[in-house]
Amino acid sequence: MKVLVVGKGGREHALAWKLAQSPLVKQVFVAPGNAGTEKVGKNVPISPTDVENLVRFAEEEKVDLTVVGPEDPLARGIVDAFRKRGLRIFGPTKRAAMLEASKVFAKNFMAKYGIPTARYGTFEDPEEAKAFAKSLGPKVVVKADGLAAGKGAFVCQSPEEALRVIDDLMVKGVLGEAGRRVVVEEYLEGEEASYMVMVDGTKFVPLPTSQDHKRLLEGDRGPNTGGMGAYSPTPVIDEETERRIKEEIIEPTLRGLAEEGIPYSGFLYAGLMLTKEGPKVLEFNVRLGDPEAQPILTRVESDLFEHLMDVLEGGIDRVRLKVSPRWALGVVIASKGYPHKPETGKVIEGLEEAERLPDVVVFHAGTKREGDKVVTAGGRVLTVVGLGDTLREAKERAYEGVSKIRFEGMYYRRDIGDKAFKYLK
Ligand code: AMP
Ligand code: GLY
Repeated sequence: MKVLVVGKGGREHALAWKLAQSPLVKQVFVAPGNAGTEKVGKNVPISPTDVENLVRFAEEEKVDLTVVGPEDPLARGIVDAFRKRGLRIFGPTKRAAMLEASKVFAKNFMAKYGIPTARYGTFEDPEEAKAFAKSLGPKVVVKADGLAAGKGAFVCQSPEEALRVIDDLMVKGVLGEAGRRVVVEEYLEGEEASYMVMVDGTKFVPLPTSQDHKRLLEGDRGPNTGGMGAYSPTPVIDEETERRIKEEIIEPTLRGLAEEGIPYSGFLYAGLMLTKEGPKVLEFNVRLGDPEAQPILTRVESDLFEHLMDVLEGGIDRVRLKVSPRWALGVVIASKGYPHKPETGKVIEGLEEAERLPDVVVFHAGTKREGDKVVTAGGRVLTVVGLGDTLREAKERAYEGVSKIRFEGMYYRRDIGDKAFKYLK
């Protein structure tokens, strides 16, 4: 069987790495991939948003299964385009991808179906947005409606800051069209966690739990990023919390979408705040998380290719996901200047040394090959995953891997996973 993975990040390297392990898979293509994916498959120089050429490629190569990593192609309707040509693809349709592509849609949907989330208002008029922000109290969150590559949510510490953000988005238009409509919502206190499932309509298979580290600096300070590290499983989601997430969030979401005539298919990711009143949705993503996918997929022992085929062929009830009881922890190594203005083109050393370590897997993101060298090519460059029988051991393995790697200006957080220790004996 031939598989095409769409994307070029650490999540896509992990997907390609895992799918290539299936005895049923003969060839993995990655479009466009990075210097890591070319070791598990063949890179194809097509942009993830060039849907037309991806369709053509899949037809010409007779690709049996396409798996989409990032949200952009999904929001542009890659799944609809593939299905129209009878090509098998794992992911939600354009309409279902609205759950991530429009925060206004997502919030109104959650309100309609009683899915717990922060109190909110949606606005097209800046003065109304400001009045509502003032009424919510000192801390509020302002979110651009559209896709903004993780840069669209602003946690504001004061009413003045909220008013400034609303002006920036709605009047100055700093995020373009994405910020012309906004969601203003109440600030939620609690621990954040990520919960992902594989979906066919109203049926789903949970993936292992995880926790991301979204802020750039240690101690969860600094600007939001795409994610600086993640580990799996997370003790902040205990059995009872997981039951509530399924019953109060995942099930009503899938039922609601089906009722709206938008049956869901693919990976669904609920970004959660675990509050005193219970789990609440911060955001939905219509794909796997990055970097959460890296530790999660490292723990999956059964055949992901077989599972995705089963889900797509109406056989989700057959899926028996086998997950290692071990812990996995992934540390993101980023370029100097990330997330605003990352430097690129720096030679990376020590990759092979890191890869040779037992219980260490190195996933590439912003990397490319130049002759016999690998150089940096983006903000997030690598995710180094360590596996261990305890979280501490997984952390030690991951950071030992990180210690072998060098490039000019490399930056990583040293405290990935530390939030979990207080929940563990
Ligand atoms: P989002 O893009 O909606 O996931 O928001 C990005 C980040 O902002 C989240 O991961 C949280 O850390 C933070 N955030 C978003 N909404 C809220 C909220 N209502 N209360 C507290 N923090 C939030
Ligand atoms: N790590 C968060 C995300 O993928 O959106």
